[in-house]
Amino acid sequence: MDLDGSEQDPEVKEYSPVCVGREDDIKKSKRMTAVVHDREVVIFYHKGEYHAMDIRCYHSGGPLHLGEIEEFDGRPCIVCPWHKYKITLATGEGLYQSINPRDPSAKPEWCSKGVKQRIHTVTVDNGNIYVTLSKEPFKCDSDFYATGDFKDTAKMM
Ligand code: FES
Repeated sequence: MDLDGSEQDPEVKEYSPVCVGREDDIKKSKRMTAVVHDREVVIFYHKGEYHAMDIRCYHSGGPLHLGEIEEFDGRPCIVCPWHKYKITLATGEGLYQSINPRDPSAKPEWCSKGVKQRIHTVTVDNGNIYVTLSKEPFKCDSDFYATGDFKDTAKMM
C-alpha cells in the first residue's frame, strides 16, 4: 500500500520533501551536498539561515559547493570557484557590477541579471534537514546542468 500517494502521481513524489541530513551536522560543516529526487543540490548554513540550490553553476556547470560565501551589496552570495560568478543565496540571482561609461565619476553599481540559479526550499523538523525541490515553472539557466543531456553526460565522466 502506498501511504503517501506518491506512487499514483510521479509529480507529487518529485516535489515531496527529502531528508538530507541532521541540523547538528550542517551547523558544523556549514554546507552539505545531496541528491534530491535525482537532482544534485547544495545546502548552505549561513548566518543562521539555510539555503539550497542546484549544485552546478548556471554559467558553465561549476561546483558551487566548493565556492566561498561573500557579501556583495549587503547580499550573501556564493562565488563560483571556476569563473567567480556571484549568486545570491536567498534568490539565486546572478549579480554583476556595472558602470555608466558616459559618467567618468560614476561608481560601479551592483546589478542583477535576474534569477539564474534554481533555489529549493529547506525545512527543519525534529533536528532533520529536508529539501523540497522548486516547483517554479519558469526556465532557470541552472536547469540545463541539473537535468537532461548534460547531467547524463556528467555521470559518465
Ligand atoms: Fe561558475 Fe563559470 S562555471 S562562473
